[in-house]
Amino acid sequence: MRSLKPGATALIALGLLSLTLVACSENKQAKVPGQAQPAKTASEDQATAPLTDAADIKAGMDYHSYANMADYQVNNIDLDLDVDFSRKTLSGTATLEVEKLNKMLTPLVLDSRALTINKVEVDGHAVKYSLGDTDPHLGTPLSIDINDSSKVVIHYSTSPQASGLQWLNPAQTAGKQQPFLFSQAQAIHARSFIPLQDSPKARLTYSATIRTPKALRAVMSANNDPSSAKDGEYHFTMPQKIPAYLIAIAVGDLEFQAMGERTGVYAEPSVLAAAAKEFEDTEAMLLATEKVYGPYRWDRYDLLILPPSFPFGGMENPRLSFITPTVIAGDKSLTSLIAHELAHSWSGNLVTNASWRDLWLNEGFTTYLTNRIMQITYGDRRYKMEMALGYEDLQADLADKDARDQILAIDMRGRDPDEVFSNIPYEKGSLFLYEIEHKIGRANFDKFLREYFDHFAFKSISTEAFEAYIAEELLAKYPQQLDADRFAQWIHQPGLLADAPKPQSDAFDKVKAQRIAWLAGKLSTDSIKTANWSSHEWKTFLDGMPKQLSAKQLANLDAQFAFTQAGNNEVAHSWLMIAVRNQYQPAYPRLREFLVGIGRNKFLRPLYRALKESDQLALAQEIFEQAQAGYHPLSVKVNSKIVYPES
Ligand code: BES
Ligand code: ZN
Repeated sequence: MRSLKPGATALIALGLLSLTLVACSENKQAKVPGQAQPAKTASEDQATAPLTDAADIKAGMDYHSYANMADYQVNNIDLDLDVDFSRKTLSGTATLEVEKLNKMLTPLVLDSRALTINKVEVDGHAVKYSLGDTDPHLGTPLSIDINDSSKVVIHYSTSPQASGLQWLNPAQTAGKQQPFLFSQAQAIHARSFIPLQDSPKARLTYSATIRTPKALRAVMSANNDPSSAKDGEYHFTMPQKIPAYLIAIAVGDLEFQAMGERTGVYAEPSVLAAAAKEFEDTEAMLLATEKVYGPYRWDRYDLLILPPSFPFGGMENPRLSFITPTVIAGDKSLTSLIAHELAHSWSGNLVTNASWRDLWLNEGFTTYLTNRIMQITYGDRRYKMEMALGYEDLQADLADKDARDQILAIDMRGRDPDEVFSNIPYEKGSLFLYEIEHKIGRANFDKFLREYFDHFAFKSISTEAFEAYIAEELLAKYPQQLDADRFAQWIHQPGLLADAPKPQSDAFDKVKAQRIAWLAGKLSTDSIKTANWSSHEWKTFLDGMPKQLSAKQLANLDAQFAFTQAGNNEVAHSWLMIAVRNQYQPAYPRLREFLVGIGRNKFLRPLYRALKESDQLALAQEIFEQAQAGYHPLSVKVNSKIVYPES
């Protein structure tokens, strides 16, 4: 049994630290939080019971940062970095504009992970600093001996294994000629490429000078200029205050194509035209979202298409969402991803979760907004399908997850955010908002949300701050329709209320009826009516299959519908799940190709799990060994725990 979780220890120690340093002010060399506690090894056991009572969680406290944010505020960071593909490092300086918030005598404590710190300067003079013990989830606190507002220049370089960066060989790109680099900072990986206050509570502006090999273009979550010369030096500014997890960079053989007045796409040349076509509705989505939820505050909205090893579907880096190429399906069937990342420009980037416990404020609101954007852009039928698919995802996770992980305001203390990731904050959060919408009426709820975004614009808020706000703005205004206890259940209890809404789709009802008839032998494979099915229907058809199908059933389906060759990655994934569970060998070459060629964790984790659960661990390990050199560090981390459960 563990005595205390590292995150909790760190923050308790942090509280003590300030006091200690006031008491003995000659001890200026900071003892960093976490030192008292030896580092523990992370393992897949993250699902063990919490050690402390949820009642003592401090609202708005970030248990995943060492930074002493009550003592210092970092208002701006200016980066000056060289991108070295042969060494796989970013190196140079980060200049932090630091504001002292009180008179306490205490060093500045920042987050870092696997950084090499060469020197720290204030006004041209070197100052003392120290790195504390490394915690497997949180990284290493960097303590800097200053006591006042100052400009702190940190000379550093990143590790080739930086958890928030992936360095790709030319072979892993679409063009196969040039290397590629991209970052993924959410949740706590910004600290692996910049020493900073890596907490969503702390907001800052940033600027950057990035030096790259001449053939390549650098882009950031900032003011990109597609017409700037490819001269190996790029300048960026992000004038709005953002949390650290939204700082992002990518470098590669990138070109730009406009899609609309404020929207465009960056991609490798061979992908550019297809991406611009697939996502041509982005401008319309932007206009639609503004109409309902208020002005878009970030100037441009561009997309960056990454190589297939990108570990997520998308990431809402401001002004420049990072997007997996696996959603370029040719028929716009997976564009809800764009609606989702765009929606984060309101829910997430404008109003931000204060800690990772409050992630549902980002993802639940965004999932709700996504559905609304899809309804405006593609109509009611698509809206209902997206909602019904989300509801299925929610049901699957409710069946699969521990009770404590079914809570919106989840207790994250001592846990690795990368391991906790699930559909709960997304789909349960969205369903909660959907219920409120239906109780008070859409027009009223739209008005509420628009005011909420205005009220908290450019702020980071906790679940409790949200609860205080809705007590006034919803509960007090709609006492007949809404109920405080019910709200508390939605936010703080596992599972779903018995009378929670159940989004349905007529289109899916027809699909399900045919599946049932086929399974019962009442409908032959070639009589299934699939004309005009989109990937949503195909996915529903497959995902509802029982765990075990006969060899004959599998062969019939594959012969009739060529699932093993499915071009749509969602459909291919659903089919491969069935293939794995039933050891359907004809699909195994595709399974291997899929697992080696795509790094998106949403696809990888369930497939590796299914292999493990169906006694095919040796195969899972063999494929993982083949694939891992091409995987992002995050995909390596979470999937190696599945395929090597003992280590
Ligand atoms: N912000 C998330 C990705 C994320 C969440 C990264 C938490 C790290 C920690 C992004 O907006 C997202 O939700 N992506 C989804 C998109 C989907 C729900 C449409 C994904 O990648 O699958
Ligand atoms: Zn999201």
